[in-house]
Amino acid sequence: MSESTITCLVVDDEAPLRSVLSRVLEKSGYECITAASGMEALELLEENEVLVVFSDIRMPEMDGVTLVGKIRERWPEIAIVVITAVTDVEVAVACLQMGAMDYITKPCQLKEVQARMELALDKRRLIRENRMYQENLQELVDLQARRIEEVFLEGVQALVEALEARDPYTRGHSMRVSAYSSRIAAELGMSVEEVQLTELAAELHDVGKIGVREAVLLKPAKLDAGEYDHLMQHMAIGARILDPLLKNAPQVIDVVRSHHERLDGSGRPDSLSSEEIPVHARVVSLADAFDAMTTARPYRAAMPLKAALDEIQRCTGTHFDPEVVKAFHSAFPDLTELPIATPDRVQHQLPEGIAMRPVSSPR
Ligand SMILES: [Fe+2]
Repeated sequence: MSESTITCLVVDDEAPLRSVLSRVLEKSGYECITAASGMEALELLEENEVLVVFSDIRMPEMDGVTLVGKIRERWPEIAIVVITAVTDVEVAVACLQMGAMDYITKPCQLKEVQARMELALDKRRLIRENRMYQENLQELVDLQARRIEEVFLEGVQALVEALEARDPYTRGHSMRVSAYSSRIAAELGMSVEEVQLTELAAELHDVGKIGVREAVLLKPAKLDAGEYDHLMQHMAIGARILDPLLKNAPQVIDVVRSHHERLDGSGRPDSLSSEEIPVHARVVSLADAFDAMTTARPYRAAMPLKAALDEIQRCTGTHFDPEVVKAFHSAFPDLTELPIATPDRVQHQLPEGIAMRPVSSPR
């Protein structure tokens, strides 16, 4: 609707006052409809697009204050101007409190009606513009938040790809460990958010191998003690690399740092035991060991499934958490499924706000 065909609604129980006011408004170029009561006004508002309502205050059935409240509730964008006798100023104030924009006193003067009409339209336009601005601003903020999440995931992905470029074995391994860990975490009853974090953590668990010398990382034979010590730096290196990126996801850092801890305290790097080892790390530790045993490396063949399961059983309670082992068996009841094939790379779903949440405390 263009501003030249603005529709006003005049509500007054006295016919002469209705026609005077509507004539004044029509003379000023506005389209005008009239109602003799609050009820009739509400019916007309349902059927017509009205921008401004001029309403008398003292009317039988529904008074002006009630009508203003109803219009405000149902059509918040309509500008309302109440018409009042000089003695009704207090009631007019009540109408303003209910959301009327303005009031004029009887008898209505032509110039005053025109001025109030223009003022009401101006105020209405400002309110609409302000609301649209707020909506656009919210849209912009949402867009920025999504972009931050994307950039964050791209950064994490770039780290994984840098490692894969050095050590092709890692790729399939990380993806399978992620798939095993995801099923175990879900079986343990973790929330969707915690399962998602476990998946990401499992894919990143060996990222610190970026800092391991190639001669050690790619050695096609068993490592000597010094080389093994060097390799085992990868947990601390990984945690250091990811810490600034993942301040809002400490579970992921926990996994990267603690996936070589053992339940009996004989693991690395912190010799944590039992419950001291974060549960996400206990999950990834089992998935990591199972996948390492059941896949071939250049210097050794894959262990048969039965032997790998026996080895896990043997180490349950010393290396592995019995609850996690139980969840692993429940998650993969069909042994013909094991070991799983390498899944395709999936775009990780992260709990909303991981990259955006304010960091509450330094780690
Ligand atoms: Fe590792």
